[in-house]
Amino acid sequence: MVYGAEMAKLVTLAVDGIEVQVAEGTLVVDAAKKAGVYIPVFCYHPKMEPVGMCRMCLVEIGRPLINRETGQFERTEDGSHKMQFGSKLETACTIPVSEGMLVRGFTEKVLRGRKDILEFLLTSHPLDCPICDKGGECPLQNLTMDFGPGKSRFIYDEKMHLSKHVPLGELIYLDQERCIQCGRCVRFQDEIVDDPVIGFAQRGRALQIVTYSEPGFDSYFSGNTSDICPVGALTTSDFRFQARPWELNYAASICQQCPVGCNLTINVRREDKSGGAIVVKRVMPRQNEWVNEIWICDKGRFAYHYAESKERLTQPLLRQNGELVPASWDEALNRVAEGLKTAGKGALTLASGRLSNEDLFNLRILTEALDGKAIQYTNLAGGDLVAQVGVGQGTNFADIGAGTAILVVACDLEEEAPIYWLRVKQAAERGAKLIVANPRSTKTDRYATHTLRYPYGAEAAIVLAMLNSLSAKRPDLPKGVQEVARSAEVQAAARAFAEAENAVVLFGSEGTGLAASRPLAQACANLLIATNHVGRANNGLIGVWHSANTQGAWDMGFTPAEDLGAALHSARALYVAAADPAGDDPALAEALKSVDFVVVQELFLTETARLADVVLPAQSFIEREGTLTNAERRVQRYHPAVPERSGPLADFAITARIAERLGLDLEARIPLRVMERIASQVPDYAGVTYQKLAEVVDQWPIVGRADLYYGGTTYENSQGLGVQLQPAAQRGEQIPLGWLQPSEVVMAGETDILAVPITRLYDRGQTVVPSDLLHQRIPEPYLVLHPQTARRMGIVNSSPVDLHLKGVVIQVTAFLDESVPENVALVPRSMGIPITDPVPVEVEVAEKIVA
Ligand code: SF4
Ligand code: SF4
Ligand code: FES
Repeated sequence: MVYGAEMAKLVTLAVDGIEVQVAEGTLVVDAAKKAGVYIPVFCYHPKMEPVGMCRMCLVEIGRPLINRETGQFERTEDGSHKMQFGSKLETACTIPVSEGMLVRGFTEKVLRGRKDILEFLLTSHPLDCPICDKGGECPLQNLTMDFGPGKSRFIYDEKMHLSKHVPLGELIYLDQERCIQCGRCVRFQDEIVDDPVIGFAQRGRALQIVTYSEPGFDSYFSGNTSDICPVGALTTSDFRFQARPWELNYAASICQQCPVGCNLTINVRREDKSGGAIVVKRVMPRQNEWVNEIWICDKGRFAYHYAESKERLTQPLLRQNGELVPASWDEALNRVAEGLKTAGKGALTLASGRLSNEDLFNLRILTEALDGKAIQYTNLAGGDLVAQVGVGQGTNFADIGAGTAILVVACDLEEEAPIYWLRVKQAAERGAKLIVANPRSTKTDRYATHTLRYPYGAEAAIVLAMLNSLSAKRPDLPKGVQEVARSAEVQAAARAFAEAENAVVLFGSEGTGLAASRPLAQACANLLIATNHVGRANNGLIGVWHSANTQGAWDMGFTPAEDLGAALHSARALYVAAADPAGDDPALAEALKSVDFVVVQELFLTETARLADVVLPAQSFIEREGTLTNAERRVQRYHPAVPERSGPLADFAITARIAERLGLDLEARIPLRVMERIASQVPDYAGVTYQKLAEVVDQWPIVGRADLYYGGTTYENSQGLGVQLQPAAQRGEQIPLGWLQPSEVVMAGETDILAVPITRLYDRGQTVVPSDLLHQRIPEPYLVLHPQTARRMGIVNSSPVDLHLKGVVIQVTAFLDESVPENVALVPRSMGIPITDPVPVEVEVAEKIVA
């Protein structure tokens, strides 16, 4: 058996008689796991540095004797190594393997040591397994059964009694008595996510986990600590006291909240209090070392409640006498077919990357049959470029380190795609050169080797400036950025990028609208092409989209309209799916009113749905299956977790039923069959089948219920790792440079300031607000100013201000932050403020305070 990195020197050792070869530097505990030998751990976690705190992994270790004079191994008469075992047991989690080592994990001495450690840990443990959420999947419970003392020598009253219901924030609760002080949670927050917001207080048996942040446990990754806590000390607020692990069923799913595409397991249970319905009890990570490893962010874990919201649409609605009234599916679909037929060539479909590939494919085929236009609802362009020069098949951030350059431009990675932030951080820690280009500082800067600042509006220009410093072909740069472009930082960053063996660019939408994002995406593609960083694994372009399947929407043929308002004005019929233009922008709401016939297919009665002639209720991701294509173009499948509700239908099925009424044959029942059509009609998806998406390989570390002491209660992946598509450059196509002149940098005037859109993880989107748990983290509408800018206008921190935007006045709270450029207001998207592009605005102290 040979494990470990191919290039590393291999070391041979034996664990309980099983010979194993592992890479030099491997810890004994990992070598044993790879040999299939079970060495229990508590504090050790294969994703974190060992600390040797709990002593659960004690083993006997023998090393070959070396003759001090000759430096050679001493041998017995039969030629084997003379072994020397230490007098004491050693911690397998802190000792690296060495040649010829013998490890004994089950001798009497080891078993006695294990029993003593367990007895020690249990001296202050409450033994409330019957009511503990971890009961049934608890390493302490199981190890006590396997190796612990049958009886406690402590009487209950001698135990240390501590608080059992301590909220560390609104998402995570701590039971202080259950904590075995392994430090996994504290180390995770510190080492893995760099949010050191929890720590130890007190000493000895009174030692407790406390939160240092305000609000408590202020981290986007807090839920992961409940997975890796080896006891029931940390539990999530929504699963706490809700179910026992053995009652749960599970379904494989994919997070629908951002373009990372984290693999999930949805745990469900039929329960009395829900009227006998099968309901979701919790969302857990599912291992995919290529995508999310074993982590997910809190949005992915807690936002699913929207799918169970009572506000969901359950019945089609038809407009009659100006009112939307309930109707049967037949009535509604007949009305839609008639409306689309009457509109003839003027029909538009508008859909977002919230839909699956199967939905988008059916919708695009229907649109083409109507001679209409399939428009993508997005604020970020460039998916066509990603299809050409996106990261190559075989890309894995885990393989990225020294020798690779990563450019993150116009993107607050932690807010826009939290797990990408983790993966980029880890790559930088392994030695990748991280170039962060953004007008203000973000958390990604902490790991940057080069930080480039530019004025908002100069996103494309800063990337072209890097290219200019490398190439004789010099695109003109707008005035506002010429000085920045000549700076030594830009030149050094460009050199680092060009000289790297591999290079990846992640571009986002910080400060840009759709119009500015096109030249940005093109500039990024040019930089990659010109430096020969395309067509291979771990090289290429990644769009940090707003929706989980924006890339799929591009691939299925949906492109954004340059001027959506104008497109709507010219439409005679409009079919909107998974998009709320009227809710996002009052100007688009006005434009919608000019369309003769509007159909909306949605989960909720959105502002757009309120204006529709027909509203069609769609299923949520927990009730159906489909595929999503993530930002690295990995196609992944999600499965139904709960039975269909009566009423809503899957989006692809609704479209197929409309198509049927128009004489067009589309697959209405089985998404697998839609994927077969996609594979035969969309060349990039040739060969993609549901069977291929279901393929798995062994992953490291071993996690899951079969081996839950090791990586935590994260689920192992037996349902599929997905298929990463090849970009055109990897298929051998020559991709030419495309020159798009970046727009002039918009500057604030003398009396106004420039409002720029930014993205926050917790916003007021349809799929976030229904989750009560996240409410405390969703801010009220606000903007952020530089203190100097605020002082000029008499604005103080946390004060209400009037924001004059597009002819309306909105009252928001102003916060001050020195990292924001002067004369700029950061305005979060999807927060009730209709901002789509950078725009000059006026901000003033609020005239009257709104109650
Ligand atoms: S709360 Fe859990 S993970 Fe944290 S130190 Fe205690 S036992 Fe370990
Ligand atoms: S990082 Fe993105 S895909 Fe992953 S769990 Fe969070 S929101 Fe979902
Ligand atoms: S000391 Fe090795 S697992 Fe804790």
